Amino acid sequence: MTEAAFQKCINPDCGAQFDCAQAIFKCPACGELLDIRYDWDKIEVPRKLSEFAERWATRDNRLDFSGVWRFRELLNFCEDRHKVSIGEGQTILQPNDAVAEYVDMQAGRLYLQYEGLNPSGSFKDNGMTAAFSHAKMVGASASACASTGNTSASMALYAHSCKVKCTVFIGSGRIAFGKLSQAMDYGAATIQIMGDFDDCMRQVQDVCTQLGLYLLNSLNPFRLEGQKTIMYRIIEGLGWEVPDWIVVPGGNLGNSSAFGKAFLELKELGLIDRIPRMAIINATGANTLTHLVNNKKLSWNDGKVDQQIIDDYYADLTARNFSPHTCASAIEISRPVNLKKCLRTIDICDGVVRAVTDEEILDAKAIIGKHGLGCEPASAATIAGLKNLREEGLIGGDQRVACVLTGHLLKDPDKTVNYHKDKQGQFSNPPVEAPNDLDEILKLIK
Ligand code: F0G
Repeated sequence: MTEAAFQKCINPDCGAQFDCAQAIFKCPACGELLDIRYDWDKIEVPRKLSEFAERWATRDNRLDFSGVWRFRELLNFCEDRHKVSIGEGQTILQPNDAVAEYVDMQAGRLYLQYEGLNPSGSFKDNGMTAAFSHAKMVGASASACASTGNTSASMALYAHSCKVKCTVFIGSGRIAFGKLSQAMDYGAATIQIMGDFDDCMRQVQDVCTQLGLYLLNSLNPFRLEGQKTIMYRIIEGLGWEVPDWIVVPGGNLGNSSAFGKAFLELKELGLIDRIPRMAIINATGANTLTHLVNNKKLSWNDGKVDQQIIDDYYADLTARNFSPHTCASAIEISRPVNLKKCLRTIDICDGVVRAVTDEEILDAKAIIGKHGLGCEPASAATIAGLKNLREEGLIGGDQRVACVLTGHLLKDPDKTVNYHKDKQGQFSNPPVEAPNDLDEILKLIK
């Protein structure tokens, strides 16, 4: 633990504080989400963001090599000896003019932040490295998570390297096979629950409380500290300049929550002079955030979020026996645990929320794949959302936009193969059958 960090309830009427040696995950006083806060006066934060770049030269230090811990002063909650790293965050920000053309943006203005390059193939490793460092700090020996797939894959990988036992809860039939194969191969105990992600999320919280397991969902505020670094790397990729817009998929809303916090802190520290806007993209089949923000006008309201609006909506989901459905299984979530922190991000970043259809997601995914960076469906929601926001005119074609591609193409090969093979979309590229005959084969190659 460091002297400089503490946990704080996000509810302004409560505001209870706890030290970082506790693994509590929700405020014991009022049940709200917790934040990690810093006493910045006690931390030697570089005066300019560009000073972090000096660590590229000392990459033989494992913490300087990590794309998360390279920025360690900005997530200074534990001592170096507890920090776990398996080389996460070696991800790239690439300009992509072909995808820019698809969304009607000018060349050189659209950037893709490809988090599929992480050790487990998704952005989750940014958060897991931080949360497992905390788990080590508090001496946890067993961990658990609910997952649509990527959290479980990442948790299993880090659990192995920390020698912590791990159990994953997944909704039966709701997980892409690339991800399930990872959890099993990396040695997680896997429990398939007859239900969806939201059911798993509810169960895992009770299981962790009863058995004293360390919880690794994004409810865990230490995980979000690691995910802030995705934004630092985007700024780094832009020569330490802030883009005009960040576009991110919205599922359990951990990323969007972490990103808003990252920008607020950088602004407060005087390390950036403005905060970018943020677009959070749901799938239409799992659009709680879109509905609550755009239709019900739910907002952060200085922390005094109108709980009745949320309760009424969830009661209606229950009454209708609603279960979310989208091809983007990673974001197939209707009761996002970080909803309130995400509302705070919308406030901080003047954010907008949109929902995109499965057809739009799969077409966008094919375009991203064709032009160089294979991603899974949830990641492609960003480009589908950006396309719509360009059509609306909310985002200008000359603005600088960074979309976060959260997971690798190979996480969910079934959706990709079906899209192409069954000609499901505008950009399907089906295989052609050929007899085992050279002349016939030659005729097929144009
Ligand atoms: N993209 C991918 C590839 C994901 O795996 C997830 C979440 C999201 C986007 C949504 O991010 O929750 O921060 O809004 N996957 C979780 C899981 C829920 O269990 O793997 P979020």
